Amino acid sequence: MKGIVLAGGLGTRLFPLTKITNKHLLPVYNKPMIYYPIQTLVEAGIKDILIVTGGNNAGDFLRLLGNGKEFGLKHLNYTYQEGEGGIAEALGLAEYFAAGEKIVVILGDNLIQHGISKSVAAFQRQDRGARILLKEVPEPQRFGVAEVKGDHIEGIAEKPKVPKSNLAVTGIYMYDDRVFEIIKTLKPSNRGELEITDVNNAYIAQGTMTFEILEGWWTDAGTFESLYRATCLIAETCSE
Ligand code: DAU
Repeated sequence: MKGIVLAGGLGTRLFPLTKITNKHLLPVYNKPMIYYPIQTLVEAGIKDILIVTGGNNAGDFLRLLGNGKEFGLKHLNYTYQEGEGGIAEALGLAEYFAAGEKIVVILGDNLIQHGISKSVAAFQRQDRGARILLKEVPEPQRFGVAEVKGDHIEGIAEKPKVPKSNLAVTGIYMYDDRVFEIIKTLKPSNRGELEITDVNNAYIAQGTMTFEILEGWWTDAGTFESLYRATCLIAETCSE
């Protein structure tokens, strides 16, 4: 299985921290943010990794990460997203890299406490479709929110004003090669982006989406509050 870290976007919610650098290069405690999602993939045994980045500071990723030696890798792949057309648009740039294999996608601002090895193994055994990881959160309206009945996922709403559950869709997604055909059918949302939630809802409509609830803490780091929370969770100075 191949891994993709999505680290494009302009990080406007962290302005002015992101005025002269990319969000994913900002520190989370003692490491640049992007180290954590790369580590999550490597610890799950995924060694063939693509970084999708963008903006004015894309070259800094090369200087920081090189060929991934610090992670025990021999090589890292890079590609560039023009503008900020959304998570699904950024993922669409990985079609050539994926080359028909199953993929694990992680958002560059998502940090977790434990690993994803078991989830990756479960998806390896799944013959087709997709798998997502959900997490109970106190403020679901900030995220994609899943509606779940028993072991069946009914649908996902992107940042709903009135969430139907407290289950956020984390930024860790596993897809078969059909994902790229789905992305080609998407239309931009009200915020002008190709939404990953639309991709996930397409798999749900096909009946090929599985899910699990993530154990341990999970956070994004794309707002001042969540960046601070990520830092103190890594430093172990705040509680879940
Ligand atoms: O963190 C999980 C949440 O991430 C999910 O619950 C939501 O369903 C999903 O839409 C997303 O929500 P956000 O609004 O928080 O996504 P954001 O725009 O902050 O982008 C998250 C990461 O995705 C960002 O760190 C880099 C990557 N990205 C984003 C955009 C818009 C790209 O690579 N390119 C892009 O154009």
